[in-house]
Amino acid sequence: MTTTENRYDVKDLAQARAGHDRIAWAERDMPVLRQVRERFEKERPFEGVRFAACLHVTTETANLLLALQAGGAEVAVCASNPLSTQDDVAAALVESGIAAYAVKGEDADRYYSHIESVLATRPNITMDDGADLVSTLHLKHTELLPEVAGGTEETTTGVNRLKVMAAEGELKFPIVAVNEAHTKHMFDNRYGTGQSTLDGILRATNRLLAGRTFVVAGYGWCGKGIASRARGLGSQVVVTEIDPVRALEAVMDGFRVMPMSEAARIADVIVTVTGGLHAIGADTIANLKDGAMLANSGHFNDEIDIPALERLSTAKRTLRPFVDEYEFADGRKVILIAEGRLVNLGAAEGHPASVMDMSFANQALSAEWVLKNHRDLRGQVYDVPSEIDRDVARLKLESLGVRIDALSSSQQAYASEWRSGT
Ligand code: ADE
Repeated sequence: MTTTENRYDVKDLAQARAGHDRIAWAERDMPVLRQVRERFEKERPFEGVRFAACLHVTTETANLLLALQAGGAEVAVCASNPLSTQDDVAAALVESGIAAYAVKGEDADRYYSHIESVLATRPNITMDDGADLVSTLHLKHTELLPEVAGGTEETTTGVNRLKVMAAEGELKFPIVAVNEAHTKHMFDNRYGTGQSTLDGILRATNRLLAGRTFVVAGYGWCGKGIASRARGLGSQVVVTEIDPVRALEAVMDGFRVMPMSEAARIADVIVTVTGGLHAIGADTIANLKDGAMLANSGHFNDEIDIPALERLSTAKRTLRPFVDEYEFADGRKVILIAEGRLVNLGAAEGHPASVMDMSFANQALSAEWVLKNHRDLRGQVYDVPSEIDRDVARLKLESLGVRIDALSSSQQAYASEWRSGT
């Protein structure tokens, strides 16, 4: 069964059994992706196509990769974050014939060497979460470009990076922005990040959140999800923002909004989801209360200024897994959860399967679309075709047993007359 002899770097192949079991458990809650996989098994749209994926190596990702493989693809995967890999899943993937390069807690050198290993398979399609794979390919391996038909990108940060590359004329193949599908960001970013971020904080700390002041930095889809879940657990939720429209939305959603300089003084917990640099900077750190806990759920680990935390503190110790305490000269102690990396994937298991079902059905269908259409596309970032987005929504509703109305023929005629202005 294995076609990946020596084509892997995982923690321990002996963990594969546990990985297979957990992958099967996630699959039960991924009915849309299941239907896509079943069609791929019959139609084999990826026969002989080489996929390079740089994704969080989780049970949900495993189901995506197995669906691509069922469609005939040869798949290699590396982690899109040094802390997000589930080692048992990586081992199970190797046993399933997927070249996996991912170890939880890998250092930066190993992380980038894993990207190199995946690129060495000479991909025809890239699948990225954060754009590290595509940027490495463009910066260091232009010799691979002629064989690449296109790619997909999972996350907001990755889409933003790719749009900059495209605007500067540097993106050399088409990429579908899976994040922009409604059935991705409205569910994965909001309900997925909302639940899994709280899950990560709770698993790491086991602290009660009821009655505590919980600050959410950034009120995009992820911030909305986290704020609403923290409120559900009884926290007093404060939002910080730089965008006036989003700040107003947070106010109307019933949250207190204030600058970070004020929020820092009252926060028991601060979570960053801004997509920007140093939402918690040196000034904020200087104002934190004794015992404040900091976590990040944005893609990169630079939303909290960790070098400033290291510089300003006089001592650091690990209190329990994913919980580091920094002590300052004035006696204050501050907690950093999961090293400031994605807390939901570092300290918990990422988004639950039911939302990844939609994100990864979009991934699989967008990869099929870009492969079919790449000759007519350019080095640009493309939206997920709306038919795919709507199909994913329809299939998800069906799987939930939810039926909706359809317009009658007279209603349809009325709507098209109204649209054409007649
Ligand atoms: N991103 C957030 N949650 C995830 C998960 N469970 N699997 C893969 N990528 C994710």
